[in-house]
Amino acid sequence: MKRVGILAGREITFPESIIKSINEKSSGKVEAEMIKFGGIRLDEPKRYEVIIDRISHEVPYYRATLKRMALEGTYIINNPFWWSADDKFFNFSLAAKLGVAIPKTVLLPQEKYIDAITPESLRNLEFPLDWEGIVNYVGFPAFLKPFDGGGWKNVSKIHSLEELWDVYNQTGTLCMTLQEGIEFDQFVRCYCVGREKVLIMPYDPSQPYLSGSQYVNVENYLTPELHARVEKDVKTICNALGYDLNTVEFAIKDGIPYAIDFMNPAPDAEIASVGEYNHNWIVNAMTDFIFKKLESGFETPDYKWSAMLNPPEKSAKKILPKAKPVEKKARAKKA
Ligand SMILES: Nc1ncnc2c1ncn2[C@@H]1O[C@H](COP(=O)(O)OP(=O)(O)OP(=O)(O)O)[C@@H](O)[C@H]1O
Ligand SMILES: [Mg+2]
Repeated sequence: MKRVGILAGREITFPESIIKSINEKSSGKVEAEMIKFGGIRLDEPKRYEVIIDRISHEVPYYRATLKRMALEGTYIINNPFWWSADDKFFNFSLAAKLGVAIPKTVLLPQEKYIDAITPESLRNLEFPLDWEGIVNYVGFPAFLKPFDGGGWKNVSKIHSLEELWDVYNQTGTLCMTLQEGIEFDQFVRCYCVGREKVLIMPYDPSQPYLSGSQYVNVENYLTPELHARVEKDVKTICNALGYDLNTVEFAIKDGIPYAIDFMNPAPDAEIASVGEYNHNWIVNAMTDFIFKKLESGFETPDYKWSAMLNPPEKSAKKILPKAKPVEKKARAKKA
């Protein structure tokens, strides 16, 4: 029996639905359940084939546990190592290099630092910052937002340099980015599963967050050309980052889809928020992805330790060449 574990926070309907969906379609070969664990031993055996992680970004103990489970060969959705290393500014820069339209974005030094950091610790930091140069590049309106965040926390729309200073001065130790604001004609959020299946959801960010009225159902919302470009960009981004489950957001202006947020490795999937259609789509797509991969095998990310634990035969031979008799003699003489 192959086991799939779900690690979740307060959300209710997505964990319930994915467990039900996997168990109903498994014909007794796969079992899905909520995970339970406590103290993790360093020789903890493998318990799950796959774990769907929805919450370890908020619980360091869970993140460390998942990394340990990956060492045993459990496939984690999403990869806890990359997720720990990832940030939104890196992602913007990477996606821009890959041909995705990204609003002009600047990474800003923090407003405050931990107590142990004094002005002497920051000798590499340009001071004062060239604020004029930064806002001339980004323009107004702009969005001041964390380089790694979620839930619309600490995201502000900015209209002037004075307003920027005012808001920036309250950001404390958060590392922030300033991004060109796209005065969009259309807006979409896209689910991507297995780096290949995409659902484009028309989305109205002017409605209250998680209210259930943000996801609007509009037939043929995008032209076929835009639809194709958005789908291609979503796949490019998710393949580059290696996320098996992600949401990519686009603000669309003058026919150009600008990707403004795509580090969402535990995307909202609750019925009350995303609606029944989108919820069912993501549950079915994840179930199909997991079954397909349990059958064909999950690609193990390319870790150094993984190669050392399972050396391919060829490289094992390379590491241990047979010493020629002459060399043996020479070595014996030296000794
Ligand atoms: N560059 C931008 N241009 C236009 N609107 C933006 C831009 N950046 C952010 N927004 C608006 O602010 C909202 C929140 O920003 P963002 O998605 O970056 O934050 P978040 O905290 O990651 O949100 P979530 O948790 O929904 O993923 C976006 O949904 C969008 O409506
Ligand atoms: Mg967002």
